Amino acid sequence: MSLLKSDFNSVTLENALKWGVLHSTPDSYDFTEADSMMADAKGAGMRVRGHTLLWPGTEPSWVNDTVTTCTEARSVLKSHIETVVTRYAQTIEQWDVANEIYDKDGRLKTNSPFTRLCGENLIIDAFRWAAAAAPKARLYLNDDRLTSVNAAVQAYSALIDKLHSARVPIHGIGLQTHLKVEDGAPDSLPSVMALFREKSIDVEITELDVRLSESDDEREDLKRQAAIYESVAKSCVEASNCTGITVWGFTDKYSWLSASSVEGGPTIRDANFVPKLAYDALREGLCSNSCTTSQSTTSSGSHA
Ligand code: XIL
Repeated sequence: MSLLKSDFNSVTLENALKWGVLHSTPDSYDFTEADSMMADAKGAGMRVRGHTLLWPGTEPSWVNDTVTTCTEARSVLKSHIETVVTRYAQTIEQWDVANEIYDKDGRLKTNSPFTRLCGENLIIDAFRWAAAAAPKARLYLNDDRLTSVNAAVQAYSALIDKLHSARVPIHGIGLQTHLKVEDGAPDSLPSVMALFREKSIDVEITELDVRLSESDDEREDLKRQAAIYESVAKSCVEASNCTGITVWGFTDKYSWLSASSVEGGPTIRDANFVPKLAYDALREGLCSNSCTTSQSTTSSGSHA
């Protein structure tokens, strides 16, 4: 926790608020892990991002087995949102209400009974229920496909219009930003951020990490990784609607990618917690206007 405190002022619970941990059986919730991490975060004076209330395809099996009509889907999701959001109404400042709901062609995913049975109306209701349970929380969409102006960005943009027309609160959209060194810096981020600014929607980098390539020149690879971290931070600092940057894990030792043995080294500290070039580059990017910006450097993770 002391490392976290010195580098970050916000935390996202990586898995503790997901259905599989909180609500793995129909009639009970297990808040043990979330409560404990929430207490640590609040004790350290950190902002907490809530992640996530609806993520198609990741529901526990009981949801798939028992939810067969839209009426049932609405009832199950409403009750989950009311229970979880109400519990943390005073502690969670931002919620990823819906995560990764469109495919790459901008079609609503159908791998969840929630979206398959009820369509987009259920997403709108999810925002409505979250707002009712925590009127002060900032409510976000969140997705991994938003680093260029593409079909998914257009789909989210159209959904935001629908939320606005229905007068349902939506405050921002999270750009996960899981990147790979070989793809280079995401040069279109400023355009994506500007597109949402036009709609008075905040953006936030919510899950930044940059996978190394399999190049033999490790030093060069680390330099390229650092440049990408700096570029993303700079894009956020320079966008008036970008409210923060969260890195998805702060040491290679505990990155979700290392855990799944994906080729890695994606974070800003190595497996011994030693800062990498990316660490200084991220700081540099955050200071690209001046070091007194209101942007927060933030960390995900269940690892203290
Ligand atoms: C990942 C976690 O980091 C892993 O520990 C877990 O096994 C799977 O989920 N996009 C998201 C995050 O929105 O919730 C995912 O987190 C990473 C991709």
